[in-house]
Amino acid sequence: MTTQGSVWPATATLPEYDGIHADKHADVVVVGGGLIGLTTALYLQQEGADVVLLEAGRVGARTSGNTTGKVTSQHSAIYADLLDRHGASKAGRYATANQAAVDEVAALADRLGIDCELVRTPAFVYSTRADSPLRREADVAAALGLPARFVDPGELGLPVKAAEVVRFDDQVQLHPARYLAGLAAAFTQAGGRIFENSRVNELNTDHDIQAVTARGPLVRANHAVVATLLPIGLTGGYFARTRPSRSCGIAVRLPVEAPSGMAISVDSPVRSTRPWPGGGRTGLIVVGSDEEADAETTYQGLVDWVGSTWDFEVVPEYRWSAHDYSTPDLLPFVGKAPGTPLLVATGMDKWGLTNGTVAAGILRDLVLDRENPAAGVYDAGRIGDVQAVAKLVKDNLHVGKEFAAGHLGRLKGGADHLEVGQGGLLTRDDGSTVGAYRDHDGELHTVDPVCTHLGCPLRWNQADTTWDCNCHGSRFGYTGEVLDGPTTKPLTSPR
Ligand SMILES: Cc1cc2nc3c(=O)[nH]c(=O)nc-3n(C[C@H](O)[C@H](O)[C@H](O)COP(=O)(O)OP(=O)(O)OC[C@H]3O[C@@H](n4cnc5c(N)ncnc54)[C@H](O)[C@@H]3O)c2cc1C
Ligand code: FES
Repeated sequence: MTTQGSVWPATATLPEYDGIHADKHADVVVVGGGLIGLTTALYLQQEGADVVLLEAGRVGARTSGNTTGKVTSQHSAIYADLLDRHGASKAGRYATANQAAVDEVAALADRLGIDCELVRTPAFVYSTRADSPLRREADVAAALGLPARFVDPGELGLPVKAAEVVRFDDQVQLHPARYLAGLAAAFTQAGGRIFENSRVNELNTDHDIQAVTARGPLVRANHAVVATLLPIGLTGGYFARTRPSRSCGIAVRLPVEAPSGMAISVDSPVRSTRPWPGGGRTGLIVVGSDEEADAETTYQGLVDWVGSTWDFEVVPEYRWSAHDYSTPDLLPFVGKAPGTPLLVATGMDKWGLTNGTVAAGILRDLVLDRENPAAGVYDAGRIGDVQAVAKLVKDNLHVGKEFAAGHLGRLKGGADHLEVGQGGLLTRDDGSTVGAYRDHDGELHTVDPVCTHLGCPLRWNQADTTWDCNCHGSRFGYTGEVLDGPTTKPLTSPR
């Protein structure tokens, strides 16, 4: 039997915090309780600032809590590309900052006494092709000072026909939800305040900064850190400068001992693996993405890959999906959003456990008016590669049009034909479209399937029973509540 939902929150005790009931004052308001928000809040509170953290749902329960749990400077094969696009100085500072983040996460967990299954282990990146760019990647990464080398494919430890393999030594894997729970506990022990189920739907910056919550009360502060995966609403225009990308994960028990290292392929579709200690010696986590496929097909692709690699019939114990954002020039945006006093962090490209730890250091130093060696590399105000940005905006529009054409998730027949547990787009007699889902009690839930961020049509995700917007990554539950931004408003009921 497969549980729908990430293995990590299901096997951690996440602390619970009350919702906000009255207006508050603080030096800093942090919006978002993922890895970036929690780490930034902890850093600042430990430096003597008075910090309030507002979280839309539960801390650590969204992307950060649903990762592969790899804390590594090995970001697939990025360093040769970074060198070619940005030169040796920026590529070197990115490498140094991320390798330092690996050590920082290990040091934080140790200092704070966080029990998060943290293990030092190698991280491999491999290709089944002999003409892959990995030999150069190893040379560039090593020249930038990283513990990387091209190794014999036999070292990989996966039963795949790897032709080229790069090994990064002494990286870290951990249980992400337990790590986040530990950060939250340390923050509140240091005097920080967390309010859960307190979605911010407006950031006023006219005089002081006011973070207004959907519950009503607001937080007034001198500084605001927006750590909401993608800044909410239209802040800084980052929705048009980043691309959302979904990955799916499964936790399985193999018929043999699981490979001990972490690994990721550069071939398409990507397969990322690491041991799953909770599953015993045979436990394995596999994460992958397929840009062209829906979630159900992607889950099946992971199951098929594990089944054919280890030759057995796979029934995952858990399966889940999450998304993150990438930028056209490979570097995250961290710092002051153009035209506002708001501090932001986005575009971690699925490497936010290290990049996000770097981001937290930059955000802390910006609030405290200190220099940070990585700040210029992650500059949130850069325009970047204009052609790549233009292509991204065009691609996003194309995605919107494709959905507008109604290619995806449209069902035949009316609501009466909807089976229990089934959802999709229905065409009404007057030709209008309605989003519908019949829950396991037989109750029908209908929504207007139009994203409340900028109006893109939504796609029904049957595997996760959510309404997803592929334009900028907003996601809604079947009753219309917001699960992921940038939107802050729930779906409306059909007219
Ligand atoms: C499947 C998958 C696997 C990954 N694996 C790895 C990995 O192994 N290693 C690695 O380094 N990176 C990995 N990543 C990337 C990494 O998880 C992210 O880059 C990182 O978690 C981003 O952290 P965050 O704090 O920005 O986002 P989140 O963890 O999503 O936190 C944002 C928080 O803000 C809250 N929020 C949103 N809107 C509002 C609002 N309006 N008001 C209040 N709160 C709000 C959300 O509820 C959420 O809790 C992976 C990503 C995916 C998708
Ligand atoms: S997330 Fe921007 S339109 Fe849906």
